[in-house]
Amino acid sequence: MTEQMRQAMRERHTVRQFDGTPLTDEEKATLRSRVDELNKTYDLSIQLIESEKSPLSLLGKTLMSGKEVHSYFVLAGDNRENIDEQLGYAGSDLCLYSQMNGLNTWWMAGTFNRSFVGSQVKGKKIVSIIAVGHGKTQGVQHKSKTPDQVSSYEGEAPEWFNNGIEAALLAPTALNKQNFTITGKDNKVTLSYKSGPMSGIDKGIVRHHFELGAGKDNFEWS
Ligand SMILES: Cc1cc2nc3c(=O)[nH]c(=O)nc-3n(C[C@H](O)[C@H](O)[C@H](O)COP(=O)(O)O)c2cc1C
Repeated sequence: MTEQMRQAMRERHTVRQFDGTPLTDEEKATLRSRVDELNKTYDLSIQLIESEKSPLSLLGKTLMSGKEVHSYFVLAGDNRENIDEQLGYAGSDLCLYSQMNGLNTWWMAGTFNRSFVGSQVKGKKIVSIIAVGHGKTQGVQHKSKTPDQVSSYEGEAPEWFNNGIEAALLAPTALNKQNFTITGKDNKVTLSYKSGPMSGIDKGIVRHHFELGAGKDNFEWS
């Protein structure tokens, strides 16, 4: 499973136009079981929703040219400390899991219709939605910072650290900012993210990617 998730990390790119084919019953069941697992493990209230009406805002439909978005994860949870980061972490898992199962995704914190989505998931903090479906294309690799721009290691960096950084640089971040810094010493790793409206979510996504790339058993977060 980990190897397939790593592969998915390399293949995943944002796709904003879907072909209109609905998710099959099998695909829905596969995604729902992953959602249930994540909700249970991290005490979250993520839902997979299908709606005839598009959840996109006008900006999502026009400026971002979003098409045929009818299935989406709503990243929701209780409004507690660190909820953004926890939903970022779980959302990243869902993107890669979807990719692994032949589906494409589009993460949105801004270009969705908040009042429409909010009417479907009541009483929870909604930090983002992630459109999921059959993409018209597979998307393209985002422009990326270099490992030197985002990381440093005291002494010679071990292979697991370099693999973790490579994985972190593949992570989707809001506006592709990649505003994170990862430092390492011995088996201790620190992750920080420049403060901003999406920094909590982005931090969770980057943490998830680093863990997958580095291998959780090789290091500890500090
Ligand atoms: C937290 C978060 C919020 C995002 N919000 C939007 C959004 O509102 N609208 C949009 O078109 N793309 C959005 N994106 C997609 C990013 O622009 C995209 O992930 C980034 O450019 C990197 O490209 P990639 O996903 O292909 O690697 C968001 C991504 C993240 C991680």
